Amino acid sequence: MELAEVIAREIRSSGPLPFGRFMEMALYHPTLGYYTGGRQPFGKEGDFYTNAQLQPVFGRLVAQQLDRWRQQLGGSDRFTVLELGAGRGETGAEVRRCMPDIEWIPKEHGDRWPRRPMTGVVLCNEFFDALPVDVVERRDGNWVEWRVGQSRGRFTWERTGTRRDRQGLPRIGEGQRIETCDRQIEAIQRIGSILERGWVLVIDYGYTRDELARRERFPEGSLMGYSAHRADPDVLLEPGRRDITAHVNFSALEDAARSAGLDVLPLRTQQAFLLEAGEDDEFSYALAAGTRHRRTELRMQLKSLLLGLGETFRVLVMRKR
Ligand SMILES: C[S@@+](CC[C@H](N)C(=O)[O-])C[C@H]1O[C@@H](n2cnc3c(N)ncnc32)[C@H](O)[C@@H]1O
Repeated sequence: MELAEVIAREIRSSGPLPFGRFMEMALYHPTLGYYTGGRQPFGKEGDFYTNAQLQPVFGRLVAQQLDRWRQQLGGSDRFTVLELGAGRGETGAEVRRCMPDIEWIPKEHGDRWPRRPMTGVVLCNEFFDALPVDVVERRDGNWVEWRVGQSRGRFTWERTGTRRDRQGLPRIGEGQRIETCDRQIEAIQRIGSILERGWVLVIDYGYTRDELARRERFPEGSLMGYSAHRADPDVLLEPGRRDITAHVNFSALEDAARSAGLDVLPLRTQQAFLLEAGEDDEFSYALAAGTRHRRTELRMQLKSLLLGLGETFRVLVMRKR
C-alpha cells in the first residue's frame, strides 16, 4: 500500500492529523517512510547533501574540536561520543579515526537511548531539523493549530479551532504561522539526564526566536520539502518520497537546555566554529592528503563549509560541568 493511502485512512478514522503525526509517518513510517523505506536520501543520487557528506573535512574539524574538549577533561579514558541521528556515519568515522580509543554510540530513529550516564560529547549534526513539528498560528491573540486533512484525493491544510498553550513562542503577528517541536525539548531533557560531564554540540540551520518571528521572512513558517536537490514549500505532497524539514528554533533549545541543567554558550555560525576548530594547526590535519589533486579537492570542501554553508548553519554548544 502507498503511504499516502495509509495516512488517508488514519484521517478518515480520526479526523485531521496534527502535522507532527503526518511528518512522523512521512519520514519514519516503519516500512514506507522517507528515511526508513530503503531509499537513499543523501548525495548526488538522492535529495540533498548534509555538511557531513562534504567529507572528510567536516568530520576532521569536528573531531579536532571533540579531541580538544577531551584534553580539557584531562584526556579522560572514558570518553563517549553519543551521535544522535548519525545517518550514514561519516562524521562518526572521522571522529573514531582521530580518537580511536573513544566509545562512539550512534543513535538512529527507533534506537533506545543509552541507559548509563556518560562523560564526553553528545553530537547532533542536522538531527534537530529532522524531528517532526506541529504548526500553530497566532489568531485573535491565541494560538490555534493547523492540521492535515484531505479533500478530493489531496492532503490539505485545515485550521482547527484547537487552542494550544504555547509558552515560549515568539511574539509573531496575527495570522502568522510557526512550528513547535516538543520532541526537540524532550531530546534536550534526555541529553541533560544522560550527560554527567561534557559537551553537547548542535549543528543545524535555524534561527533565534526573534529572527523566526520576522513576518517578512517566514509568514507561513519555515517548513520545506526536498526532492532531487530542489526545495518545495508544499510539504503535503508525496509523503514518504520527499524530505521535510523545519528550521530549528535555537532559543527554544537554549531554554530547554538551561532547565535541564546545561550551561549554554553563545550561538555562533558554522563558519566561526570551524575556523576555531582548525586554527591551532592551520587546517593541516583537515586538509592532509596524499596527492595534490586530493588536497585541492579538500580545500574546495573547506571553502564550501566556511563560505556557502558556513553562514547558514549555526552551532550551539552546551556544557555540563
Ligand atoms: C538530515 S539527517 C542527518 C544525518 C547525519 N547526521 C548527517 O549529517 O549526514 C537526520 C537523521 O536523523 C535521524 N533521526 C530522526 N529522528 C531521530 C531520533 N528520534 N533519534 C535518532 N535519530 C533520528 C534520521 O533518521 C536521519 O538519519
